[in-house]
Amino acid sequence: MSKEQQLRNDIEPIPISGIDDGLTSRWHGFNIFTWQEPCMRRFQKFVKNAYIKLLKETHAPRTRCYIQGWANVVRSGERLSPHSHDQSPFSYLSGNYCVTSQDSATIYYPPYVYAGSLDPKTSIAIKNRPGMLTIFPSGIFHETSIHKGDQERITLAFDIFLEDVDPRGRAGHEGTHILFDDPQEPVGGSPLRN
Ligand SMILES: [Fe+2]
Repeated sequence: MSKEQQLRNDIEPIPISGIDDGLTSRWHGFNIFTWQEPCMRRFQKFVKNAYIKLLKETHAPRTRCYIQGWANVVRSGERLSPHSHDQSPFSYLSGNYCVTSQDSATIYYPPYVYAGSLDPKTSIAIKNRPGMLTIFPSGIFHETSIHKGDQERITLAFDIFLEDVDPRGRAGHEGTHILFDDPQEPVGGSPLRN
């Protein structure tokens, strides 16, 4: 929250998912995986450990990949309309970590469940609970319920790419993408080393 105003001043918004302003529409201009505050370092390690655990449980190999993350501060009456994060050949995994929430949900539309078009009957709603991390394939459509609480709903979100480009084809220089995992390095390697 202490960074919100500065980021809003510094980054030109790109309206997305029904959000015209705020941090969500500035997702492209910063990367919370480069933030050095102790709480953010803990968060980055938490995400890395969760990712490695997911690979183990799904018997997936480690692969060289890149990460970019942002914060969402959603206020009363706002919602994120259906969107997916990346459907490029470099699409991999995305995540959503709930910091604060009052009775809101993220609703997912897995493509193996719906046929043809998004339908609420074939959606899977996951209630947002503080401290909960959801990791999902970047191409899956999802939305949020309308935030009705009187306090901000804060989530931290990220995309993991197989190449150092994002859906708009921008390479990860200037801190927008950083290396997240590399099989040549120990599990606790980049971006967790100092
Ligand atoms: Fe999203």
